[in-house]
Amino acid sequence: MATAELAGKHLILGMTGGIACYKIAELTRLLTKAGATVQVAMTEAATQFITPVTMQALSGRPVYTSQWDTRIPNNMAHIDLSREADAIVIAPASTDFLAKLAHGMADDLLSTLCVARDCPLLVVPAMNRQMWMNPATQRNVAQLRADGIEVLGPDSGAQACGEVGDGRMLEPEATYEAIASFFQPKILAGRRVLLTAGPTFEPLDPVRGITNRSSGKMGFALARAAQQAGAAVHLVAGPVALDTPWGVFREDVQTAQQMHDAVMRAVPDHDIFIGVAAVADWRVDQVSDHKIKKTADKALPTFTFVENPDILAAVAKLPHPPFCVGFAAESGDLEVHGEEKRVRKSVPLLIGNLGPQTFGLDDNEVILFEAEGATRLPRADKHTLARALIAEIAKRLPDASLIS
Ligand code: CTP
Repeated sequence: MATAELAGKHLILGMTGGIACYKIAELTRLLTKAGATVQVAMTEAATQFITPVTMQALSGRPVYTSQWDTRIPNNMAHIDLSREADAIVIAPASTDFLAKLAHGMADDLLSTLCVARDCPLLVVPAMNRQMWMNPATQRNVAQLRADGIEVLGPDSGAQACGEVGDGRMLEPEATYEAIASFFQPKILAGRRVLLTAGPTFEPLDPVRGITNRSSGKMGFALARAAQQAGAAVHLVAGPVALDTPWGVFREDVQTAQQMHDAVMRAVPDHDIFIGVAAVADWRVDQVSDHKIKKTADKALPTFTFVENPDILAAVAKLPHPPFCVGFAAESGDLEVHGEEKRVRKSVPLLIGNLGPQTFGLDDNEVILFEAEGATRLPRADKHTLARALIAEIAKRLPDASLIS
């Protein structure tokens, strides 16, 4: 996550009764770490699963459980608590609470807070699969969606009751990602973005190969930022040790040729192509089908290389190319090589990393090269920078004025 990406956001975190209450401890930690203020309100049932003391310690604020709480001077907890909220998040949201919300009921603090709110409402359902599939629950969820309430999840998998199916609450990290995504402006709504990220791995024999030090962090951060901006995102990733950003479709590849083939298959459906991968320029002509052994005469192995396809240039050359964005890491003279590379690859925008020493780091500083000239963006962590780059790309789309 970006440093303090939810700074200034005030959330009401409403907890209802369910075993998934244990996940809310971690969710609260993630939200407060991102800079949000979190005001916890719990139903009576939620307090049976986790104590208000735990939630108070994690949120750093008193926890409210009753509309008759005398700590609110005017006795209007349902109005006072939500007055400054940017959103109410109900997590976990029980079957019973979804039913109450769908019918506008207000018989305890949390349900009254929801009815009296003047801010968006997000619900994170958590229940047994039969309860989730129950036609009444499905009707209620459809009604909540029709009322403009965001329904996050549920996930599917093993459940506390021992059954397997739909209904379990999203994991805390996924819930956090969905909330962070909710707050981002949807500047790429309706767009489809294809990206490459990470290094490639070019085999020499079954156990050895040539790769590079790209961590994939910048490409993954851009995929996350594009998803948060409302785009459908397809990420073609070389071998990296990174989790797939929430809501992103990921396709793993090893070699430059595989990356090229995956991109060429997917690209016809896409509006934007961002080549972030550090693609190997060459591969060995004949990959040995057995491990290359040392020989008695100590002869050194020799390899003949052939050139890999240039993925970015191939996409840019298509008869109807998407809006193409390249990346470049240079070891010197970025100002000269950046613009020269942009022209050579025939792309409208090329993003130059200030030095390959940014590989693997969490911070980055870049220059944007385009026909009109070069613009430097301030150094920032890769998530903040990714958001800024997505905003820059959105502004430059041929029909950007159609997007509000
Ligand atoms: N790229 C690509 N396919 C390749 C090589 C590069 O798609 N075979 C893309 C990268 O993803 C990046 C851009 O082209 O967006 C520039 O990559 P870079 O390695 O800096 O450029 P090269 O063309 O390899 O030039 P050189 O190594 O000579 O600097």
